[in-house]
Amino acid sequence: MNKRKNRDLIKLKGIKKVYHLGQVDVHALRGVDLVVKKGDFIAIMGPSGSGKSTLMHIMGCLDTPTDGTYILDGMEVHNLDEDNLAEIRKKKIGFVFQNFYLLPRVSTEYNVALPMIYNRVPYGERKEKALKLLEKVGLSHRIHHLPSELSGGERQRVAIARALANDPDIIFADEPTGNLDTKMGAEIMEIFKGLHKDGKTIVMVTHERYIAEYAERIIHIKDGKIEDEEEL
Ligand SMILES: Nc1ncnc2c1ncn2[C@@H]1O[C@H](COP(=O)(O)OP(=O)(O)OP(=O)(O)O)[C@@H](O)[C@H]1O
Ligand SMILES: [Mg+2]
Repeated sequence: MNKRKNRDLIKLKGIKKVYHLGQVDVHALRGVDLVVKKGDFIAIMGPSGSGKSTLMHIMGCLDTPTDGTYILDGMEVHNLDEDNLAEIRKKKIGFVFQNFYLLPRVSTEYNVALPMIYNRVPYGERKEKALKLLEKVGLSHRIHHLPSELSGGERQRVAIARALANDPDIIFADEPTGNLDTKMGAEIMEIFKGLHKDGKTIVMVTHERYIAEYAERIIHIKDGKIEDEEEL
């Protein structure tokens, strides 16, 4: 194991999240401590409403905690404002969601190029990169298709290619196989396995045991707290 692999990438301490809904406080996270090292592949499991997505949104800098500290790659991020969080997301983080969230009216190739447009990558460079990423996920033959002309598994592969566009250190995937059948789910997990082998850090939420078993470690969450951890 090399040295880089052992670096702490994510360090959460005492993370709490309270949502205020009118008069009601929803305690989504009640004190989470978690360390993710560079190169880790972890799965988060737990019942519906246990706080998995909330935790992932905080780790992915889409949201900030109500309480607790979050050190991402040596930098304190729990108090940052939206502009600074967006900057970090752009540089370090890729997301994959259950519902793909592709732009419906543009091609596969354009969907993958989009984050590079936001990042002001010149046209030729982003085109070349998009094609390379689509080749990586096995979709070179589908570059001109619209999302509606693709299967569910193919859509998720486009979303994975897009998540890789800005060379993120970490990929967060919230139920990436939730809308796919077993065969397509396994194909998607093979891609994640390859990314992990390439050195990416992956944090994935899933309801399915066989999907979680692609990871090296499973974190079980219940009622906003880590209940148990399993090394695989
Ligand atoms: N924006 C919000 N406002 C208020 N309450 C919220 C909000 N988002 C989530 N919650 C609540 O926080 C708790 C945790 O939600 P979260 O989405 O993290 O659960 P989850 O474990 O991802 O569930 P699922 O498996 O169904 O996706 C739930 O009780 C939910 O109702
Ligand atoms: Mg969720």
